[in-house]
Amino acid sequence: MEALFGKKKRAPGGSLVLYTTRHGATQRYAERIAQPLDALVKETAYAKIDAAKTYDAIVLGCCVYAGKIKGLGFFADHAQELTDKRLVLFTCGLYDPQEEAVRKALDAQIREALGEMTDRIAIFHLRGSLRWQSLGLVERVMMKALLSGIRKKPEAERTKTEALLLESEGGALDFADEMDLAPIVHAARFGREAER
Ligand SMILES: Cc1cc2nc3c(=O)[nH]c(=O)nc-3n(C[C@H](O)[C@H](O)[C@H](O)COP(=O)(O)O)c2cc1C
Repeated sequence: MEALFGKKKRAPGGSLVLYTTRHGATQRYAERIAQPLDALVKETAYAKIDAAKTYDAIVLGCCVYAGKIKGLGFFADHAQELTDKRLVLFTCGLYDPQEEAVRKALDAQIREALGEMTDRIAIFHLRGSLRWQSLGLVERVMMKALLSGIRKKPEAERTKTEALLLESEGGALDFADEMDLAPIVHAARFGREAER
């Protein structure tokens, strides 16, 4: 019958994982998070709120470029429609969120974009990857400018990430294997306040 009438309609519930990416790291995390949740994965730009509202949990993955978190708009624009959902947000950048200044800057940006809604969201910061080979011209220029700024700093004042960025110039950096995605999956399943 399914073959005749097309796919069976999905029952409401479950999880939806959305992502915004330029070079794929955020998408790869989204796919890894979606797997144990048996969730649908979709690029945020193509997500529709009416369909998203039929899920119990929404995970929003956002890449970070030039200090800006991309793709927060989906939550910001639909705050009123998502009040009864389990909401999870993860950022994907290269800087180390264990450093307080990095984490604070990301958190402040999220709060500025989402306001009170922030308190209803489980928030995580992941580290992505960088492949010089895949960078466009503008991105290369930006990275070169960043590196030249780092080079001007005395070695002792450079953060670990800055030293890594210098070392890997022209090559690649990837933190995918170091990231624990279990807490994100857990938050999608049980909500922000659930004990682990
Ligand atoms: C031009 C450029 C600017 C970047 N700016 C930042 C930044 O401000 N903060 C950060 O943590 N990572 C920054 N990154 C690293 C990206 O966030 C990282 O490559 C991440 O994996 C991107 O996600 P995506 O692969 O899903 O696009 C930058 C990378 C490039 C190429």
